[in-house]
Amino acid sequence: MEIKLELKTVVQAEADTVVVVCCSKEKPEDALAGTAAQADTAAGGWIEELFQRKEFTGKALETALLHRPGGLAAKHLLVVGGGPAKQFSPGEMRKAAGAAVRTAKAKGSRDISLAVSGAEATPAMVEAAVEGALLGDFEPDHHKTDPKKNEKAVDRFRVAAGDSLNGLAEAVERGRIIGESQNFSRVLANEPANLLTPSRMAREASQMAAQFGLACEVLDEARMRQLGMGALLGVSQGSTEPPALIVIRYKPEVPAAASSAHLALVGKGVTFDTGGVSIKPSEGMEKMKYDMAGAAAVLGAMRALAQLKPRIPVTAFAPCVENMVSGRAQRPGDIVTSYNGKTIEVLNTDAEGRLILVDALSYAIRQGCTHLVDAATLTGAIAVALAHIHAGLFSNDEALRDRLLAAAKVEGERLWPMPLDDDYKDYLKSAFADIPNISGGRYGGAITAAKFLEEFVDEKPWAHLDIAGTAWLDDAKPFLAKGPTGMGVRTFVRLALDWQN
Ligand code: BES
Ligand code: ZN
Ligand code: ZN
Repeated sequence: MEIKLELKTVVQAEADTVVVVCCSKEKPEDALAGTAAQADTAAGGWIEELFQRKEFTGKALETALLHRPGGLAAKHLLVVGGGPAKQFSPGEMRKAAGAAVRTAKAKGSRDISLAVSGAEATPAMVEAAVEGALLGDFEPDHHKTDPKKNEKAVDRFRVAAGDSLNGLAEAVERGRIIGESQNFSRVLANEPANLLTPSRMAREASQMAAQFGLACEVLDEARMRQLGMGALLGVSQGSTEPPALIVIRYKPEVPAAASSAHLALVGKGVTFDTGGVSIKPSEGMEKMKYDMAGAAAVLGAMRALAQLKPRIPVTAFAPCVENMVSGRAQRPGDIVTSYNGKTIEVLNTDAEGRLILVDALSYAIRQGCTHLVDAATLTGAIAVALAHIHAGLFSNDEALRDRLLAAAKVEGERLWPMPLDDDYKDYLKSAFADIPNISGGRYGGAITAAKFLEEFVDEKPWAHLDIAGTAWLDDAKPFLAKGPTGMGVRTFVRLALDWQN
């Protein structure tokens, strides 16, 4: 999708479909405002008439389409609801732009222009609009052979910003980088496990790193054995596919003077999770191809950061394995020794994410990282607690937790703080090793999983995002296709860019 910014008003924009966002009215007799008012005047009062007939109310993501709008240069006018004007934020804009693109392309439009003015023409709004357009255009269908499917993609998305482009070119560029990087992550998360093995993840990561000038190193099985990463290797041993620990490094040219922070982004990369010997039920198991969505999120974030250049060093660690059943697979009751020397009793082979993560987290610490953030499709229990709306946020450090909450808020990714009180540690007791990989009780599974991870971070500032409920959409939304969401990418990018000291 080509993305352009131009000095045109809603009246002048020459696209196949020109889009305006129209917020709801406080009182029915209120006049339309902003770009919608300009479009309405030019198109002879068409939007006002929709309001009068209550066919359109400005509710968020509502749409109405006018063909051959007299007075406008575009062939079609698409009005998208923005919700109450006072609450219209970049987050609403991102969704509105996504819904506009999905609606317009469903009607056969490949050339879309979003007209903005006034409060919609700020850098933050325009950045979000470009992201929303790219995210909305994404379809998880590139394995379909139907030749018509390529026609479904939008060719061109323009932002018609009226008569002033102040700071907007950079905003469009940032939106493009972040939107494309989130889609990069979504492509990976959607790939089936026969095509996306740990080795293939490593190849995709090193190609991406080479393309954007990042250093990439892949630790293979032999190296991990030498280092003593017994927790990760225990998970991987049931598969004929070799594991890979992907490490990607970004270093700023001019580091922030006051900062000695080195951020680690760690992502769970289980390319397929059968559960192992503690096997999962077959219903829905096909979705376990997205059990590497955490790894995909950190790779997507690095892809964006390479271009946006934060002022602190950021290193990504993506431990990638396949969790399979075989004559070589790990058994319940096995005791493995993790990279940091602690022994773990594997009471359930389906709690594998935490096993690969702890070796990667300890490795990140040994590599000199000062702050650790991980993303993982770790537990079904997080979806029991928070449904598919929020990802769970766990942290041993208030400042890091607040940074993540702030970053996520700006980026419209929803995180909810979860508890990590020491009392939860009591659920993790093993008679035969230092720690078991699952809790003894039935409840609080997402918390005990996080508590397990915490045991391996050496009291370094650390935060964990459980994205099992939010990395995948079972049903499309008006602004996003069914399938992988790319959850975490934008929050990670914002966290690194906004890091002050
Ligand atoms: N990959 C799963 C968690 C998951 C569930 C991700 C649903 C996405 C959607 C994880 O490895 C797992 O199997 N966790 C177990 C832990 C249990 C054995 C303590 C779970 O949640 O059931
Ligand atoms: Zn599992
Ligand atoms: Zn898993």
